[in-house]
Amino acid sequence: MSDVAGFAGRVLHWFDRHGRHDLPWQHPRTPYRVWVSEIMLQQTQVATVIPYFQRFMARFPDVTALAAASVDDVLAEWSGLGYYARGRNLHACAQALNARSDGRFPETVDDWEALPGIGRSTAGAIVAQAFDCPAAVLDGNVRRVLARHAGVDGWPGQPAVLNRLWTIAEARLPDARHADYAQAMMDLGHRVCTARRPTCATCPVRDDCYAVHHDAQSRLPGPRPRRQRPQRTARLALVVHPDGRLWLERRPPRGIWGGLWCPPVLEGDDQWQAWQQGWPALKMAAQPGAMVHHAFTHFDLDLTIRHGIATVAPPGTEGTWSTISDALQRGLPAPVRRVLQAQLTATAQAELIA
Ligand code: ADE
Repeated sequence: MSDVAGFAGRVLHWFDRHGRHDLPWQHPRTPYRVWVSEIMLQQTQVATVIPYFQRFMARFPDVTALAAASVDDVLAEWSGLGYYARGRNLHACAQALNARSDGRFPETVDDWEALPGIGRSTAGAIVAQAFDCPAAVLDGNVRRVLARHAGVDGWPGQPAVLNRLWTIAEARLPDARHADYAQAMMDLGHRVCTARRPTCATCPVRDDCYAVHHDAQSRLPGPRPRRQRPQRTARLALVVHPDGRLWLERRPPRGIWGGLWCPPVLEGDDQWQAWQQGWPALKMAAQPGAMVHHAFTHFDLDLTIRHGIATVAPPGTEGTWSTISDALQRGLPAPVRRVLQAQLTATAQAELIA
């Protein structure tokens, strides 16, 4: 039987010496800053998030400023962070929160979970850190710590395994220092109980860790059952006006790159033919251009670049002619941004040579 009673105390003691105390959302640790940071930290590393978080706070210093902004402005600040539904949900949440009659942030996990894009772990992380209230966090790092320490078999993506981990996470909450404990568990997973080569010798809870005693670190938590990632292909149409501006359209709100600006993306030969036929002024180069690869969570996408020229916009389609530097100011999908940046560099080089 493990000394579960002492678990939180040992983790907090370790945190005081070895945890992260200089994260920008800890100074000051306000509900607004904690909330925005936790949304950005979903599926994204701390080091990547920090510069985005700082720019975001400078641009939208409070929930009123965020609610008053257009979703376009929010997505432009989000551009490059990926998973854009998070940015759209954050904006929708800001409007819902700003409309609350008491003008306060919710203080319970249930109330946060009722908002779009906020699951149980994010809600727990917000409540614990913003209000110093007891709430469990179970992100990937914490799942790993608990699966190893308590010896929970199976892949945590399975509901039965996840439920066990929630029960354990809640049973181990401390009586005080809830904000620090939430951060401490994430830091322990990040710094000590790493996926590969955990440094168990430095772990504050190694004495009663199931994985240490059974040499089970490499098999806990259990792996996700293997499945072939689907491969998709599409054409990315870079159509320019004779004056050099590029044709951009707004992506539909749902689906890949929802709400971002993008040159037309055509999937499959039928869509490709129909799209060309629907734009009589368009002339496409016969030869395909370079190929760009992008990995989404659930599939891989190979984009073939196709170059074209047109003097007028496609009939009945909303969009805009945009210079490349103007396009780069907008919320663009990351691979499209890379393509346009390369294009801008190539143009600048050609001008230098000419
Ligand atoms: N992932 C989610 N929230 C986090 C946090 N507060 N610190 C580090 N990683 C996190």
